Amino acid sequence: VSTTSSSLSTSVVPWRYAAGRLHLLDQRRLPNEEVFLDCESAAQTAEAIRSLAVRGAPLIGVAAAFGLAAEARRVLSRSPGDFDVALEAGADRLAAARPTAVNLSGAVERIRRVVRETPLLTPLERTLLVEKEAEAVAEEDRLACIAERGASWLEARWNLPPGASATVLTHCNAGALATAGIGTALGVVRGLSARRPVVVFADETRPFFQGARLTAWELLRDGVAVTLLPDVAAAWTIASGAVAAVIVGADRIARNGDVANKVGTYGLALACRANGVPFVVAAPTSTLDPLTLSGADIPIERRSSEEVLELAPGVRVAPAGVTALYPAFDVTPSALVDAIVTEVGVSVPPHEINLRELLPGA
Ligand code: MRU
Repeated sequence: VSTTSSSLSTSVVPWRYAAGRLHLLDQRRLPNEEVFLDCESAAQTAEAIRSLAVRGAPLIGVAAAFGLAAEARRVLSRSPGDFDVALEAGADRLAAARPTAVNLSGAVERIRRVVRETPLLTPLERTLLVEKEAEAVAEEDRLACIAERGASWLEARWNLPPGASATVLTHCNAGALATAGIGTALGVVRGLSARRPVVVFADETRPFFQGARLTAWELLRDGVAVTLLPDVAAAWTIASGAVAAVIVGADRIARNGDVANKVGTYGLALACRANGVPFVVAAPTSTLDPLTLSGADIPIERRSSEEVLELAPGVRVAPAGVTALYPAFDVTPSALVDAIVTEVGVSVPPHEINLRELLPGA
């Protein structure tokens, strides 16, 4: 199976849903093992999201929607009279699994609306509508075509001769492992690779190593060469002139264009601005949050200090007794973002004004 956006495609498909069962590629075990996890309830899906078995803002929205579809199937076969109570509780649980990505609460609210608007239908009819809405969440994300638009924006900005190679740097994983399609930031990378030779630097992205484990695996899988960079080497590599653009995804973009993304993103944006390197955020409009006015209002997930103190579960790197702080995301002020690329258009500064054109219903 492969997922396609325009002429671009990926062989990486990290989820599938059939008959009340959500199969998720367990991203905690990549790249060494390719194992699928089965979720047959909202609770199991919420745990998969919380524990990062599935991650990436758009994909956790898709997983939550199908987690509720699985929940609907579960109550349908056991206690259809509990449909509303079970679905409401499941929705609450899923929405609370991770706080920063607005795609998660957005997808959960879409399913909740279906449940609330259909009290007179049978549980089976409602289950089918929940499944249909979950399919729509996934399909809209799959079709959100950011790649070509982002590649064209960078090509115009670079104005490089045909055939010249370009080096781009990315952080975390904003690829097929994080969406229902070819990815946001990695979609743009795929779009650029179709136009000219591209060298990809991927930050390791400590402490969960989304870059080392996931971005590297995904790009190699699709035949795109990738060079890993320790996170701490990124600023100097940008300053050295070796990077033509930094391209990242987002978990939530506030109304004024402030961008929450994997911690470390803000530092990359600062290094880009200090060195005149374009800093591009690629995200579907489902990541725009018009109800959050600025980055100060975005909830930043704090994860367990164990995830910093241990290199992998049970492999401790720090001495007993030390404490650790792990904010999983940071906020890049909109003024540092040269372009926010969505499936409906590109916002350039001042994002406070230009982003309004891209908001749903604009
Ligand atoms: O903690 P994660 O791995 O879910 O963080 C993911 C990111 O920060 C991604 O950049 C973001 O969700 C965009 S994915 C298209």
